[in-house]
Amino acid sequence: MQINQQTGDTNFPLSKMEAPIFKVLAETAEKTNTEIYVIGGFVRDLYLDRPSKDIDVVVLGNGIAFAEKVGQKLKTNVAVFKNFGTAMLKHSDLEVEFVGARKESYRANSRKPIVEDGTLEDDQLRRDFTINALAISLNQPSFGQIVDPFNGLEDLENKLIRTPLDPVVTFSDDPLRMMRAIRFASQLNFKIDQTAVDAIQSQKERIKIVSKERISDELNKIILSKKPSIGFNYLFDTGLLELIFPQMAKLYGVDVIKGRAHKDNFYHTLEVLDNICQTTDDLWLRWAAILHDIAKPATKRFEEGHGWTFHGHEDKGARMVPQIFAQLKLPLNEKMKFVQKLVQLHLRPIVLAQDIVTDSAVRRLLFEAGEDIESLMLLCNADITTKNEYKVKKYRNNFELVKQKLKDVEERDQLRNWQPPISGNDIMETFGLSAGKEVGILKNAIREAILEGDITNSYEEAFNYMLQKAKELGLSHV
Ligand code: CTP
Repeated sequence: MQINQQTGDTNFPLSKMEAPIFKVLAETAEKTNTEIYVIGGFVRDLYLDRPSKDIDVVVLGNGIAFAEKVGQKLKTNVAVFKNFGTAMLKHSDLEVEFVGARKESYRANSRKPIVEDGTLEDDQLRRDFTINALAISLNQPSFGQIVDPFNGLEDLENKLIRTPLDPVVTFSDDPLRMMRAIRFASQLNFKIDQTAVDAIQSQKERIKIVSKERISDELNKIILSKKPSIGFNYLFDTGLLELIFPQMAKLYGVDVIKGRAHKDNFYHTLEVLDNICQTTDDLWLRWAAILHDIAKPATKRFEEGHGWTFHGHEDKGARMVPQIFAQLKLPLNEKMKFVQKLVQLHLRPIVLAQDIVTDSAVRRLLFEAGEDIESLMLLCNADITTKNEYKVKKYRNNFELVKQKLKDVEERDQLRNWQPPISGNDIMETFGLSAGKEVGILKNAIREAILEGDITNSYEEAFNYMLQKAKELGLSHV
């Protein structure tokens, strides 16, 4: 544990304030007789021992003018954002942003003029959370001292997200902060103060004025946290999820007919998501976990004598993916296609694992999953959430078998990113055909024969097979 020499405060990682930029800032402050403080995320992360490359400096006075002085001293360019009243410069791998202390609310994206000339405490008061309102003096003789009027350090200690003002006011200044509260809770494994939770609940409709992009940014940060269920539980319990991502909220609930219940697909999905987070940092694979059962509510049926079924939820789920990505302003590119493919195929390995594993089934899976086969296997492993030890053991054992078979078949047949040895063009040339139905029929027949193992994956066998099939169709060789 380190001790801040100035304040006697414990846990103060003073060594991190030894970066040369702090010396330059302090000297410029002294020379221009300006009071400045490091504030916000950088200070929070100092205490949490998290790496941070963004330094926010609050200036009691004109932030832009001060930044320009520092820029001159460092002989470096300063980017000025007049509309926001901020300026930014880069120094080694650090980004330093300057802003004048504000009386008015902190406005992330507003173009409205900003009211400066606040005191440090005015500025701290209008920030989002007490843990983000901590400031450290860069002025002599108080250099390195913490300024913590709202007990942010205590909240860090108690792992609590709390607003400096009445949360209703803080959230109405910028409703995105409701998402930020939940995002920080998920990233840091903190609790949100109950009055703030209540405020999110009562103010939730205000999220509608926030752009979809900013919301999805926060959502993705929640998804990238170590245990995203923390964030999603808050989103669901406060009612925000219903507003920003209703399809996921619909997974919640259990129906009972004739004494038979199905599992709650919301909590199951969270379990799968938390599981997969232990094996991958890939955002899109995590999205696939979120969406794998997304069509269960829409496909749910109670079948007499059988119980609850969700037939076709993988197909319908895959069809829902583009619409959900568009609605959340997520990229409609190959990332979306990857998620879609995983949703589509997520039942396949588990079905394999429950059954006798035939070579042809493994070959088909490999053909369809291509280079995403490992991701698919991770998803399916994460999908085993049964509490029945016997079943878990059985699935996992069979899974290992599927994995081994995948490896064998892959080595033998090299089906990953595979293209059948006879192309559409070959078919057209051989039979003097133009593009049309017959070409498709022959192509399919060849692919199926290889996947089924009726013929080997070679040009010669495929060519002979094509001739035989063509004969059945009444086509002749030219
Ligand atoms: N801030 C705020 N309200 C917002 C956004 C930011 O009060 N809606 C303040 C907080 O004091 C925050 C600082 O501005 O610490 C910097 O914001 P930002 O860079 O977005 O977040 P960080 O706290 O640095 O965290 P992260 O980098 O993880 O987003």
